[in-house]
Amino acid sequence: MIDTFQRNINYLRISVTDRCNLRCVYCMPPEGVKQTPHWEILSLEEFGRVVDAASDIGIRKVRITGGEPLVRKNIIDLFRYIAANPLIDDISITTNGILFADMAADLKKAGLNRVNFSLDSLNPQNFKDITRLGKFEDVWRGINKAIELDLHPVKLNVVAVRGVNDQEFTDFARLSREMPLHIRFIELMPIGECNPWAVGNFISANEIMTRLREEFGPMQAEIKVTGSGPAKYFRLPGAKGTIGFITAISEHFCGTCNRLRLTANGQLRPCLYANKEFDLKTPLRNGADRQELANLIVRAIRQKPQQHHMDQGWTDRRVMSQIGG
Ligand code: GTP
Ligand code: 5AD
Ligand code: SF4
Repeated sequence: MIDTFQRNINYLRISVTDRCNLRCVYCMPPEGVKQTPHWEILSLEEFGRVVDAASDIGIRKVRITGGEPLVRKNIIDLFRYIAANPLIDDISITTNGILFADMAADLKKAGLNRVNFSLDSLNPQNFKDITRLGKFEDVWRGINKAIELDLHPVKLNVVAVRGVNDQEFTDFARLSREMPLHIRFIELMPIGECNPWAVGNFISANEIMTRLREEFGPMQAEIKVTGSGPAKYFRLPGAKGTIGFITAISEHFCGTCNRLRLTANGQLRPCLYANKEFDLKTPLRNGADRQELANLIVRAIRQKPQQHHMDQGWTDRRVMSQIGG
């Protein structure tokens, strides 16, 4: 469906749970955030009904996110259900990778096409310090499994934080040379835990690019990598993978935004930033049919704002794990 600002909305991101098995320093406090009660979270069957209705009004790509989507019980059933919808042509997941390796083959069999891993450090001790709970080796095993199973393009999301992982940017870039991995540096957004200190620890994509050029020289620009997101990609000479940038702050990409979000508790969120949400849980539980749900989705898309105003602060109390990244 084309929205009020001539954008083609064809990409639905579903946060299937607000729970996570990590506690990344920029995302959550050590004790985690207050969890939504189970009864408020949509069942897999309810998520499936939303996808069917969304596909009727032009959604063609679905990404499963969280929290950490793989902690959700029986999540593979949802992949199987979505894959059976002939209107959906791309099913992907964003995961922290801790549980991925052992589930990868079943996910692929159920219809998963490709995977993005959140990985902010290649150094096991630093990884532990950032995530508080994670073991780097678990994620690394997952990444290798994804390559082995051809779940490509395999992307790594690296949230750039000064004093936390900026000493590793060149290591990440080198990794894109050696392995078929698409390394994406994400500008830190003032969301959740990082809200008060995001400003001081922010590193722009431009600064990262300058540092990489100093180390590696010029890079080939405008590389096309399969995806629905806003990243721009470059390649080091002879590299198997690419280096991408998600410039959510320094150069927002709202003008071409193609997405709609569904939170774990059944709220449609037309923009990551805007805290205006549209309730689908109540109609779902009151027996709304596919057409009624589709009408509600259209109504939400019509109110998708033209752009975010993150530079003016974050007014929502929800953190990324509750919205779905
Ligand atoms: P593909 O390009 O299809 O692989 O996916 P993607 O980049 O859309 O998905 P992913 O979940 O890996 O998103 C990467 C990061 O981009 C997210 O974690 C966010 O930090 C950022 N991002 C995704 N969507 C939005 C958005 O709508 N607005 C803003 N400002 N940032 C976003
Ligand atoms: N700014 C930018 N990216 C973030 N993520 C979580 N919190 C933030 C933030 N404040 C990223 C995660 C993951 C994706 C879903 O969102 O690292 O890659
Ligand atoms: Fe979990 Fe992602 Fe938040 Fe880290 S950033 S705690 S992996 S939801």
